[in-house]
Amino acid sequence: MPQDVIIALDFENREKTLSFLDLFRGSKPYVKIGMELFYAEGPDIVREIKARGHRIFLDLKLHDIPNTVQKAMRVLSRLDVDMTNLHAAGTIAMMQAAKEGLTRPDGTSPLLLAVTQLTSTDEQRMHDELLIPATMPETVAHYARNAQTAGLSGVVCSPLEARLVKDACGDGFLTVTPGIRFADSAADDQRRVMTPARAREGGSDFIVVGRPITASADPVAAWQRCLNEFLG
Ligand code: C5P
Repeated sequence: MPQDVIIALDFENREKTLSFLDLFRGSKPYVKIGMELFYAEGPDIVREIKARGHRIFLDLKLHDIPNTVQKAMRVLSRLDVDMTNLHAAGTIAMMQAAKEGLTRPDGTSPLLLAVTQLTSTDEQRMHDELLIPATMPETVAHYARNAQTAGLSGVVCSPLEARLVKDACGDGFLTVTPGIRFADSAADDQRRVMTPARAREGGSDFIVVGRPITASADPVAAWQRCLNEFLG
């Protein structure tokens, strides 16, 4: 079920980020804060954007030993974000520890998603460098099932893989998909892209959209177009 469009705030600092968000005036799009902005500005940028009334996907892709990830997630749980993530490659034990760390004393928790295989990793490199002999679809479906076993809410994946994940884990398991482009816009460095409408048909619950909105001459119109095409 298509739920929302998440704008990737891939800006280098607070000033550029806030002046972008100011364009939206009364509207409060769901936004994604990634490593670049988080490492530049620290947790204060998360608090500030949250205080402005936005829902936040904190995209830090944690991957470490279970104890370390659990403690890091406990810190992130206090930031009051709506969604965050880690690498499924860290094992089921790491994902379970993360979920435990992210659960607040009152039992609530941000949505926790797993990255299966990065979309920048192709099947050849996965075979040759990571020594994973399975096909990419088998690996993505297997990692998604591991995430579900660990109690996670869903995965970040290519929109081309959303149907595969739903088939493996059921419709209620969330798919959050970057790699979105309008039919008439540039692909940039993304290799395999889908339009918002096709992503909806493919089973994406949330789409993550960066440059088609952030680099547009009219970001608010581009965001509204995404919402219209995705929500149908
Ligand atoms: O500008 P663009 O729409 O390509 O931005 C996509 C966003 O989603 C970026 O923040 C990128 O880091 C992120 N992302 C991605 N592919 C993944 C995981 C995250 O493009 N597999």
